[in-house]
Amino acid sequence: MIAVYPGSFDPVTLGHLDIIERASKIARKLIVAVLTNSSKLCMFDVAERVEMLREVCKDIRNVEVAAFDGLLISYAQSIGANAIIRGLRAVTDFEYEFQMALANRMLDDSIETLFISTNAQYSYLSSSVVKEIAKLGGKVDAMLPEATHIKLLQKIGRL
Ligand code: COA
Repeated sequence: MIAVYPGSFDPVTLGHLDIIERASKIARKLIVAVLTNSSKLCMFDVAERVEMLREVCKDIRNVEVAAFDGLLISYAQSIGANAIIRGLRAVTDFEYEFQMALANRMLDDSIETLFISTNAQYSYLSSSVVKEIAKLGGKVDAMLPEATHIKLLQKIGRL
């Protein structure tokens, strides 16, 4: 199975990394795909987000990192993916994720969306929460891979 794990990854957290590691054990090849045309106002540009992901995934042999824009399903088709991976943190994620999965299935029913339940330890995490805590001077080292932690502190001028 070739799977794509899409997201904004602004920045990648330990919660994302947990999903990447677990998905990489199921998929033959896992493409972690950074959305470039996000409506979100991102702190890191696409090249920085891709670079951070490549750094944290460098030891997982079947994981590649790429950027994409436009429709996810078109991107998945273009790389020959047969599955989309999404992490589910809490019941609040479900409605949005379910709607996205159904819409993607209407566009191409040969590509399945597979949900991986987030490790309970990271169920409260989101990139926005981490950025906010960091900006307000809080400790975020237990929420981010080490290389990303350094990049975030540099970005907000705390290093
Ligand atoms: N650990 C930590 N945080 C997690 C997480 C996990 N396991 N899983 C999700 N999150 C957080 C992210 O950090 C992010 O936080 P933020 O909002 O504070 O930045 C949030 O959950 C959700 O973000 P993400 O998983 O990156 O999804 P998204 O909603 O930004 O983007 C896409 C989802 C890229 C899949 C979707 O927008 C897409 O497909 N876009 C392409 C256009 C398209 O095809 N549209 C039609 C879709 S039906």
